[in-house]
Amino acid sequence: MVKIAAIVPAAGSGTRMGMKTKKQFLALAGIPLVGYALKTMEASPAVQEIIIVVTPGEEGYCYGAVVEKLGLNKITAIVPGGKERQDSVYNGLLALSPDTDIVIIHDGVRPFFSLDILAAVVAAAQTHGAATCAVPAKDTVKLANEDNFVTRTMPRNHTWLVQTPQAFRYKLIVEAHRRARDNSLLATDDTALVESLGRRVKIVMGSYENIKITTPEDLDMAMAIIKAVGG
Ligand code: C5P
Repeated sequence: MVKIAAIVPAAGSGTRMGMKTKKQFLALAGIPLVGYALKTMEASPAVQEIIIVVTPGEEGYCYGAVVEKLGLNKITAIVPGGKERQDSVYNGLLALSPDTDIVIIHDGVRPFFSLDILAAVVAAAQTHGAATCAVPAKDTVKLANEDNFVTRTMPRNHTWLVQTPQAFRYKLIVEAHRRARDNSLLATDDTALVESLGRRVKIVMGSYENIKITTPEDLDMAMAIIKAVGG
């Protein structure tokens, strides 16, 4: 049987939210934000184990306020995160058993991905080694220098906005993270580390609802989405 594990990094400082409670633990309609992603992971028949990564010292809080409260059964470890998201994911990888076949990595602050998207990402990773969900950019995306002068315009019909869940063959993502550490390479998503090895990453269709909760406006949007689906 294929062994599929999920890592949910939730060790961010949440400074862009400007609130006392960290955004990953803010209650939305009575459920801590990170709980939404964990509940969907738990509901996926493919996922056998889930590792949550939290700020060092918050492991006990996360266990009581999220895992126990929501009655989650697939959480096998809550591990301390690191300075950057990449460090946190690496700590999650270290907690996996080496007989894992596929690793799903999903931001704890993206509550609205579907089981269908998760299944599509996992299937693509099994076939291609690495996969992410993403949505086509509706706006034209430009690169700019530090002085805000445009340096490049991306062709819109080939521009995708990358989301999580992402999924990988275990050996590939472990190698990508080890190499990145050796070469002091820092990226904001895990597929970039696989790309840096010269390996292909498959895109599958995500959803425009699969937002990352970053600023207070995103919370309003999240509440609107929860209400729309009858939460
Ligand atoms: O920083 P950003 O909002 O992009 O974070 C994406 C995810 O990575 C969030 O779930 C956040 O909690 C997590 N993260 C982490 N460790 C860090 C920074 C971010 O687990 N050092």
